[in-house]
Amino acid sequence: ALAACSADPAADAARRVMPTDPLVAEREALRPSSGVTVAHVLEAGTASTTLDGQSVSTWGYNGAFTAPTLRARAGDRLQVTVRNALPEPTSVHWHGLALRNNDDGVPGLTEEAAAPGGAHVYDFKLPHPGTYWHHSHVEMQRERALYGALVVEDPQEPLEYDRDWVIVLDDWVDGVGGTPDDVMAELSEGMGAMAGMDHSAMEGMGHGDGPMLMGRHMLMGARSDYLGGDAGDVYVPHHLFNGRSSDSPEIFEAKAGERIRMRIINAAGDTAYRVGLPGQALTLTHSDGFPVQQTQADAVVLGMGERIDALLTVREGQTPVLALAEGKGQLAYGLVSTGTGEAPTVEGLPQGLAGTVLDGGKLTADPAVLLPKRKADRRHELRLTGGMAKYDWGINGRRFDMDKPFEHSFDLRAGERVQVTFINDTDMWHPMHIHGHTFQIGEAGARKDTVIVRPGETVVVHFDADNPGQWLTHCHNAYHAERGMMGVFSYL
Ligand code: C2O
Ligand code: CU
Repeated sequence: ALAACSADPAADAARRVMPTDPLVAEREALRPSSGVTVAHVLEAGTASTTLDGQSVSTWGYNGAFTAPTLRARAGDRLQVTVRNALPEPTSVHWHGLALRNNDDGVPGLTEEAAAPGGAHVYDFKLPHPGTYWHHSHVEMQRERALYGALVVEDPQEPLEYDRDWVIVLDDWVDGVGGTPDDVMAELSEGMGAMAGMDHSAMEGMGHGDGPMLMGRHMLMGARSDYLGGDAGDVYVPHHLFNGRSSDSPEIFEAKAGERIRMRIINAAGDTAYRVGLPGQALTLTHSDGFPVQQTQADAVVLGMGERIDALLTVREGQTPVLALAEGKGQLAYGLVSTGTGEAPTVEGLPQGLAGTVLDGGKLTADPAVLLPKRKADRRHELRLTGGMAKYDWGINGRRFDMDKPFEHSFDLRAGERVQVTFINDTDMWHPMHIHGHTFQIGEAGARKDTVIVRPGETVVVHFDADNPGQWLTHCHNAYHAERGMMGVFSYL
């Protein structure tokens, strides 16, 4: 079935690195092993919740709107049985983990999707500690609630903290004003009509466009302000903090003076978030699971798919953790509570986070995880192309086609140091993700798997080709990726 959709099944089969490949076995033997097996079942099916007073029914795991956080330790064997109770095929991608290729969860490229009524067992050793997440890699499914956090604890954890909190951020349209597929269809078809309009009203939107259907709503003056506005306006998203809307925020209880490790995950399809506690600095410790040189910041920006770990010390009272939707004037939030003082109302929340604002692309790797210095053996240039008018997102001017995944693949060989240059020729943000590897930004930047490439910006990353397979690279804006801003790194 893998090959059935391909234009040239025999040629594609020849290109595929299979689990039986000796290089794959070699790599498997190098993975740490604790001897512990952690088993879970995730059943993909229907789920429902209430967001800002509206009842929402969508898809999720185990009947819940937000999947439980999976926790295990580096070296543990994770065995996840995914049962499919959806009306369409599904898969799970383990974002950020350098797994064996056939556990990567990309139907058409690495495995077969689990058919409706069927199941797929993912069974792998967790190669490295850090904050990760998983999500369906079938079309727009992750824009429903088919995602969850995955925390891989470090058996030799060097950080000291009293509590470990996971914060998952999301923008939300499904089941409210249109499904992600409706939004997608409207973007794809409707944007042509906007081609002759004045796009200046869209400036400042920056990184996203999908759920806002920005141009249309803004030009019609119909953009509703989530804080007190008309939330019923079609496609104006809810912003979720651990699956909750702002009318019933998540409350983290703690004692004043306690040290907290916050693991922040941006699971949104179309929104970058600026996260912080007003008036209180964060100590950034990890980006995309890997340690960075610890840095103080007043706020941190996460593109879609990115994670940041930060330490903070709890203050007496009720302190909001704000997640501001960059460029959208909307927010999600949670509260840190010592059980004293007044909880702020949504209207009373600060609307901004100023001061030192960093993102993972600006951090420096902890020396322990720096790639050893070496000249690149191979260079690939990935020009991010397309625009809102035609909604024709692509890489190097081409729209990716999963039926011909190797047609324009970025080839490499095991053992090489690979340099990838992302060049953003568009006027939107693109958080670019590479599967199966962790790259380093520039010469000494953070080790990451997803990096924001801003309009007009060029970002150079390096990685070691040490995980044979065929691996996607794509923009983590769900709408951009689905419209073609994807490619494949393929081991020769
Ligand atoms: Cu989280 Cu292919 O992505
Ligand atoms: Cu993009």
